[in-house]
Amino acid sequence: MTPTPAVEGDAAGDLIRILHITDFHLRSDPGETLLGVNTQQSFEATLAAALAENLTPDLALLTGDLAQDATRNTYERLKGRLTALPCPAYCLPGNHDDPVLMNSHLAHSPIFCQSHIRLKHWQIICLDSTIPHSPYGRLADDQRVLLEQWLKEYPDYFALVALHHHPVPSGSAWMDTMQLENSEAFLELLGNYPKARGVVFGHIHQTLETEYRGLRLLGSPSTCFQFKPHQAQFALDAIPPGYRWIELHADGRITTQVNRLDTLPAGLDVESGGY
Ligand SMILES: [Fe+2]
Repeated sequence: MTPTPAVEGDAAGDLIRILHITDFHLRSDPGETLLGVNTQQSFEATLAAALAENLTPDLALLTGDLAQDATRNTYERLKGRLTALPCPAYCLPGNHDDPVLMNSHLAHSPIFCQSHIRLKHWQIICLDSTIPHSPYGRLADDQRVLLEQWLKEYPDYFALVALHHHPVPSGSAWMDTMQLENSEAFLELLGNYPKARGVVFGHIHQTLETEYRGLRLLGSPSTCFQFKPHQAQFALDAIPPGYRWIELHADGRITTQVNRLDTLPAGLDVESGGY
């Protein structure tokens, strides 16, 4: 396995501010909807709301399901939008993405699809937890090797790990059939590295904040529709799209906040039984 080269992030400061946006579920035709929602419009609205805060992100972190229809059209349109961001964007795939197609269209500076971001005090390790044609995830052997390789190579850097699938139960039985299959091994591995301070993920379309042996575990809302917490079966939540700010401090602390739009996406079919 050839390691992806590390890059010096543009953000070389003592405080790193990350905009975490996830699960856009963009269609190939931007006029198409999903569960009644025009996912292109809700993505644009969510991004606009985040940028209107004038918090100046050092980087944007996109944790998968960027596409609902993993096509050239979808990724090229997204590339155009991400290229116009005021910061670099780092992408990893979700179960609805096509990782190879995604990389081929998106991985052009200032957009990156790589496993490692090296900053002044921190490293961010981006993992691919997808299994082809499967909604659940797994940390495959090559990704586990990659994770440990970066942790060992930069032992003095605090580490934030990003992936699509949730490594702890969300509390919704239907959703938890689709979590990271070998999450215990993943968390145990991270537990061996005290500089590993957080894991950030998408997939669950809701806010989740918990801890595992001092490791912050942070799930974030989708930019389109949200899943209702603590449900046995699929259920949508009547709550607006959102995004997460993550601040990485020089002393290893993580501060974070989820913000949401003021209104639900137009057309949201809250009674939908699935997609
Ligand atoms: Fe999703």
